[in-house]
Amino acid sequence: MTGFSQRSTPDDPEPPPQGSLPDGLQRLEALAPESFSESRGDFEAEESREKYGLGWRGKRRARQLSLARSTGTLRPCPEDSEAWDTTQNLMIEGDNLEVLKLLQKSYSSKIKLVFIDPPYNTGNDFVYPDDYRDNVRNYLELTGQIDGTGRKLSSNPDASGRFHTAWLNLMYPRLLLTRHLLKSDGILLIAIDDHAVHHLRSLCDEVFGSENYCGTFVWEKKKKPSFLDRNMGSVTDYIVAYAKNRTLAPPFIAGSVESGKKYPFNNAGNPVGVLSFPPRSVTFSCPDQWVRAQDMSEGNIITELLDDVRIQNGVNADRFRLRGEWRYSQAKLDEFVTAGAAITVSKIPFRPNYVNRSGEAKKTSNLLSHRVNGVPTNEDATREMRELFGADVMSYPKPTGLIQYLVRATTGENDIILDYFAGSGTTAGGVLRQSLADGLPRRFLLIQLPELLDPQNREQEAAAKVLNAVRKPRNLAELTKEYATNGGKHPGP
Ligand SMILES: C[S@@+](CC[C@H](N)C(=O)[O-])C[C@H]1O[C@@H](n2cnc3c(N)ncnc32)[C@H](O)[C@@H]1O
Repeated sequence: MTGFSQRSTPDDPEPPPQGSLPDGLQRLEALAPESFSESRGDFEAEESREKYGLGWRGKRRARQLSLARSTGTLRPCPEDSEAWDTTQNLMIEGDNLEVLKLLQKSYSSKIKLVFIDPPYNTGNDFVYPDDYRDNVRNYLELTGQIDGTGRKLSSNPDASGRFHTAWLNLMYPRLLLTRHLLKSDGILLIAIDDHAVHHLRSLCDEVFGSENYCGTFVWEKKKKPSFLDRNMGSVTDYIVAYAKNRTLAPPFIAGSVESGKKYPFNNAGNPVGVLSFPPRSVTFSCPDQWVRAQDMSEGNIITELLDDVRIQNGVNADRFRLRGEWRYSQAKLDEFVTAGAAITVSKIPFRPNYVNRSGEAKKTSNLLSHRVNGVPTNEDATREMRELFGADVMSYPKPTGLIQYLVRATTGENDIILDYFAGSGTTAGGVLRQSLADGLPRRFLLIQLPELLDPQNREQEAAAKVLNAVRKPRNLAELTKEYATNGGKHPGP
């Protein structure tokens, strides 16, 4: 069962006297006494146990699963590897819950970025049990259903509690383990659709703290909506971002700002304030001269020079103050001056500008769109798969360009990137491509369940044929390995 319950807020009416129920509840008790089967004392005790948060069946068990020791071990497979002695990249085959536990020791606080694209909660295409060795029993136990096969839920995309419950039980213990692996300035990015984004946010708020929520990218996943969409055509998915500690996480970068771009100090409509420019902090294009204190306002631009200023050798010889409506605070101006940033004034009346120097980082917006910032779509991803494997081997793979964008935004030299729902392995491609693009080496770590390919699934049947051709076992982890070893070398769309 899934549900929210909320502690009473200060706006709630006065609480009833001890032992009595509020009017509405008294009437409800008369109508449905079974809902009040225990004593009123219990009802109140129940209320006092309520707290704001997400609750579902199996939550406590899911937490315990994250704490239980793994009984597995990792077995090296040099025969399946490329550049065994030199590569720093890893692909691990197994159930990610077990593997995440095994990684806790060696990778605790070492991972800069965890990017995951878990199975979406559509009811069609998940859920994998939390104990890979004894999946049926465990799965049935967790979800409280007795008629499943223990391997996948039925294809009924019904949003009833059990789908959400099963999905939450999948995610919760893994997210708890993820937090320990992240560096103090590490970031978690989770791809999700709109069926589960609200549950995911609640879950992550609980595990990471709502103060560490960085924002949600909106990714334009396709150019045209499906005609099957009933009420509105859906063309977006989401990538939810949390930091281990948001105060330590740097801004997400989308490249560098155009060199020489000017940002005016004046910003009509902001509160009026006084800025004090230290000696030699401003470069003037007008001739050397004395400029007397004066009102330099024009139209809706307020600027008043409060001190006489001597322009000597193209810079202000002394400190001077300007009163006006400013974009930047005194603290920001001081930061510019300390960093040796260029502040220019071209003429009288003074209109100071901050001039950007080359290479300064530009923060990303939360819109990831083929039209705005060239981020590819699902269609592009399918084309990439076709080019690499000669077939559509994965349903809805993520485009390498999307992962590359996110890797560039959040990681740098020698960072480790983990994807523990690796699928076809596109995260490997995104990491390798970004490292090639900016020359900063990074490492990836992928985990994928060796899920047997399903002959009923068109893409998985195609993947099986591709693997047959290279005499590899027919499971998804083999596909991941194929991409992780070949995908990064492959030119994108
Ligand atoms: C949505 S797909 C990821 C697709 C991937 N981003 C891509 O571009 O190809 C989710 C993947 O997680 C895998 N998976 C599900 N449960 C898992 C588990 N317990 N451990 C490891 N992998 C799992 C599934 O086999 C599937 O390949």
